[in-house]
Amino acid sequence: MSGREDLSATAPAAGLLVWLGLAGHPRGLGTLFFAEMWERFSYYGMRALLVLFMVTPAAEGGLGMTAAEAALVYGNYTMAVYLLSIPGGVAADKFLGLWRSVILGGGVIAAGHFTLAVAGVAAFYTGLALVAIGTGLFKPGISALVGSLYGPGDNRRDAGFSLFYMGINVGGFLAPLVTGFLAQSATMKAWLAGQGLDPLASWHWGFAAAGIGMLLGLAILVVRGRDLRGSPPPLWGKAGEGDSRALGPALMLAAVMAGTLALMGLIMVSDRAGFEPLRWVYVLLPAVLALWLGFSKDEEPRRYGAMFVLLIGAILFWGIFEQAGLTIALFAEHLTRSEIAGWAFPSSWFQSLNPLFVILLSPIFAAMWMKLGDRQPSSPVKFAIALVFLALSFLLMAPAAMLTAEGRISPLWLVGLFLLQTTGELFLSPVGLSTMTRLAPERAVGLVLGIWFLGFALGSKLAGVLGSNFTATDPAALASSFVWQAGLAAAAAAAFFVLTPWIKGLMGGVR
Ligand code: PHE
Repeated sequence: MSGREDLSATAPAAGLLVWLGLAGHPRGLGTLFFAEMWERFSYYGMRALLVLFMVTPAAEGGLGMTAAEAALVYGNYTMAVYLLSIPGGVAADKFLGLWRSVILGGGVIAAGHFTLAVAGVAAFYTGLALVAIGTGLFKPGISALVGSLYGPGDNRRDAGFSLFYMGINVGGFLAPLVTGFLAQSATMKAWLAGQGLDPLASWHWGFAAAGIGMLLGLAILVVRGRDLRGSPPPLWGKAGEGDSRALGPALMLAAVMAGTLALMGLIMVSDRAGFEPLRWVYVLLPAVLALWLGFSKDEEPRRYGAMFVLLIGAILFWGIFEQAGLTIALFAEHLTRSEIAGWAFPSSWFQSLNPLFVILLSPIFAAMWMKLGDRQPSSPVKFAIALVFLALSFLLMAPAAMLTAEGRISPLWLVGLFLLQTTGELFLSPVGLSTMTRLAPERAVGLVLGIWFLGFALGSKLAGVLGSNFTATDPAALASSFVWQAGLAAAAAAAFFVLTPWIKGLMGGVR
């Protein structure tokens, strides 16, 4: 079969490939695939509604916040979700074990979404906190369980993780279609009214659907759990080996927890007027670490230096990319015609485009890396390419923003945006993860994964800050904000191209 036939067959074949792909893997992978699919369904289903719900006037069933207030809540929430995976991972390692942390985390996540299903500001913040805490326990645990399916020399491991990433994106694709329909569609509102229920409460039905998704994921784990290494470990049964030296691990968890909360507190304080200079702490900290470690004479610190350089690229990348659920969600809601051939759809459905493109493009990327083999560009060059695509995506939004002066614009602009961003994502996200783990000394892989999640957390926070000046009424200001951010991404890309030889030197042989 020629390469071109391969590519054109990608769309219908993607689903089939997943099934065939799972067939050659340990049975547990199917269980983890579908459990993570439902967990991400709940996460992205809720995220698709989050900002829209916050900015909807209270009289229309929302929280009536300004876009700037909603942006800060969005940034702090998504930051917390990924920051808490650091203490969550330590808790799993030292006390709970992977299995129990996943089950417990899943339960807390479901409780969080059902709390969001209740109206009111107190329920809202409690729900967000529960989802963040639960995800902190669930996400590192389930990722590590995937790793535990393969022995050290098993060459199916990378393919297993690629399939798992597919599961993430199948969930992310389906979720906004369901929750967006429940929360935003006229059909649903009319149905609620017809049942004598409050049509303005439709948002909460969307949040409840996220909770049901998480329960389905939990059910899969409980029913099929025995696939994960023989018999499932007891839920609250006998404790692991760490317990005879309980003080050590307890102190360690307490220290990590305290550090995480302190960082989170510091970052949140930086939102307050007068405290903005604190923002430099989380921008400059990785840069200082990168330089300090990068100019060390020893090999291991230099490798950590390389990791922090990559981390800076990742933070900037996610800082723009993660505005999907914020700036772009608002752009879709207020400034885009959400209709295909005259048929109107909920604006949150645009959130399905990124996962859809991941599903469609992943096989193409896999084929490309396979074909290039040793002639592949190095990781810093891949990061630079990712940042170029990201810059192009926001550059595309500048004329789009200007055109909104004449009314709502075509949905195709956002299709283009997500196509460019997803291409960038596939150059950076899987590459970054595997490069980080290969740079890590064997005993510190967990720590390094924590650093990678930290990058995602800081990037998410940055997204909240960069996205806080969204305006639906000033096309020129909106366009210049897109251009400015595209320039930031382009400058970062240029820096990565220029610094590639230095970074490769720091990486000491790892590509
Ligand atoms: N789509 C990815 C996910 O939800 C985004 C991500 C990348 C999250 C890297 C964490 C770290 O899993």
